[in-house]
Amino acid sequence: MKVLVLGGAGYIGSQAVRALSARGHQVWVYDNLSMGHRQSVPSNQLIIGDLADQALLDHTLLLHQIEAVMHFAAFAYVGESVHHPDKYYQNNVVNTLHLFDALKRHHIRKIVFSSSCATYGIPATIPITEETQQHPINPYGRTKLIIEQALADYAQAYGWSYAALRYFNASGASADGSLGEDHTPETHLIPLVFHAIQGKIPYLEIFGDDYPTPDGTCIRDYIHVEDLASAHVLALEKLADRTHLKLNLGIGQGYSVKKVIETVEKITGKKVPIRISPRRAGDPPELIAAPAKAIRELNWKPRYIDLESIIETAWRWHRDHPNGYGKMSKS
Ligand code: UFG
Repeated sequence: MKVLVLGGAGYIGSQAVRALSARGHQVWVYDNLSMGHRQSVPSNQLIIGDLADQALLDHTLLLHQIEAVMHFAAFAYVGESVHHPDKYYQNNVVNTLHLFDALKRHHIRKIVFSSSCATYGIPATIPITEETQQHPINPYGRTKLIIEQALADYAQAYGWSYAALRYFNASGASADGSLGEDHTPETHLIPLVFHAIQGKIPYLEIFGDDYPTPDGTCIRDYIHVEDLASAHVLALEKLADRTHLKLNLGIGQGYSVKKVIETVEKITGKKVPIRISPRRAGDPPELIAAPAKAIRELNWKPRYIDLESIIETAWRWHRDHPNGYGKMSKS
């Protein structure tokens, strides 16, 4: 299939690009490189462009005769979304609706959309199934839910097929060590734990140790990026006429912030300097997926099913690329 991957130079998108190409799809990447990295995708597949640039989008969809899109191009910092909701509604909602207009103009009816466990807010029960009520508690989660709802309406009206994939916490790096996490600013837990042991930050702040969880710190379901990527490819290939998929992508295991720190210490043999800080706005105490539906419907087989193996890949990346994609150094 001829696929355009919006945000395909980002952390998760670049893994999907690689997985799609490995399956024989023809892939182009559309990315404004605001968060993505030129080095993370083959240069002959990269179109540098903004989601807001309707003319370039039209040109790209037409030129490459695109048949399906994967849409990763979004801002995804929960904390930032609380303080700058305008940025989130503009890009994640307004620009995405413009993308949908373009898809409509070009009669493209297959879309795989990056949604989030943030659409569930504070779930009434754990683990979270696809039927769990979606009540997001931060602007980021609301932007993702709005687009899920728009997709359902557009799909109904225009005969689209779509998969809304609700990721839990994307983590880890590619097994061959060539693709990994490099955000500026970095806000995610696992990379920041490495930054703390590498001396790039003085200590890791634990945002709240008074949550109603066994050790008082937040619990998340960490899913390896390569497993996320494989689910995207399977979802795309599953999109037949009027297929509407809403799937949770996690491994079904929750780990606390303290457990993540402990695992990093075990793998690296280094002590993580920590400081307890106040809770971060918009953080739910516990998010764990029930991934059974994705496993069943996609015949998806996540390969990384424990935190240790995920963190090992992340450590290799951070050890060998202490400056991320900026200066690729090999130790
Ligand atoms: N945390 C810390 N210290 C840090 C960074 C994070 O204690 O320096 C904690 C957070 O409070 C949270 C956990 O570690 O409890 C994980 O935080 P991340 O920032 O790594 O990830 P989030 O759970 O906030 O965010 C992820 C995705 C979002 C998605 C969200 C759903 O990155 O895209 O899950 O809540 F929306």
